[in-house]
Amino acid sequence: MSRTPLPSSPNGWFQVAFDHELPRGAVRAVRAFGQRLVLFRGADGEARALDAYCPHLGADLGAGGRVLSGTIECPFHGWRFDGDGRCVAIPGAQRIPPAARLRSWPIAELNGGICVYHHAEGREPADPPPAVPECESQEWHSPMRAQFHIRAHIQDFVENVVDAAHFSRVHSYDPASTLTFEPRGATFVVHLESARRFLGREVRSDLRIHYFGPSYAVSRVSKPLEMVVIGSVLPVDDETIEYRASFILKRGRLRALDAILKRIVYRQACAEIRNDIPIWENKRYWEHPVLASNDGPVMKFRSWYRQFYPSSAAAAAEVASERVR
Ligand code: FES
Repeated sequence: MSRTPLPSSPNGWFQVAFDHELPRGAVRAVRAFGQRLVLFRGADGEARALDAYCPHLGADLGAGGRVLSGTIECPFHGWRFDGDGRCVAIPGAQRIPPAARLRSWPIAELNGGICVYHHAEGREPADPPPAVPECESQEWHSPMRAQFHIRAHIQDFVENVVDAAHFSRVHSYDPASTLTFEPRGATFVVHLESARRFLGREVRSDLRIHYFGPSYAVSRVSKPLEMVVIGSVLPVDDETIEYRASFILKRGRLRALDAILKRIVYRQACAEIRNDIPIWENKRYWEHPVLASNDGPVMKFRSWYRQFYPSSAAAAAEVASERVR
């Protein structure tokens, strides 16, 4: 039984893989939004995303499909589909039935990730999140990547960012930290200034988290060191999410010190996420929580985030269509 009354998936761009997970000629199965997708990359280098179940007799193209001349071939009887989902070849058949096609998903490759656009009513995609200049700059290290599989709803994950009270309790930040939340249309910025003990010393920290839509966040740490974190959370189904993060550290003058620092920062950043996971995995979502004065703008955040959920009618239709598929 779902622990939240919310639809499982908001509408927006979601990262479904890191780019290195889909080299040329590769096929990759993806579970997202309670559905099965297949990614493939042809000789032209373009990543494509299609519904995974073949319209013929239902084989999963992500389980044994292969790339052939820019198309993906079904493992069962060899039907081939192009990047737009059109069937372009059926071995031994004179003609291709008009209904022989797969849904093609809008796709964008950015900042080292492959994103698809999900909309419960099939609307045209919004602008994808922006390119992050640090990804291309020689002044910054190549990203350190991490992925977490979490038994939680996306809402539990995203609203964590404005839950001011948990930063001191779960992450040992100074309770006097200041947190501001500025929503702007489909984006928002959270600014967190704080202090905490690290390796026995008090360290001031300054963090700005910029969300682009319901899932994609670019966080910039300017103190005590300079780091960018690109994170995206993917609803796998009603009960499960995947979080992918790329940690990009600014290069220092001493290469040996940088190597040590990278290891420490990566370990610490992953530990911070792991501290939250047992809470998310066991909590319930209260629509009307009892809040205190130090809680941060939780309800303001929820009212901003609501814009991404499909209307209840659309959500019901999506669930029904999934059941008959
Ligand atoms: S099930 Fe895909 S070709 Fe037959």
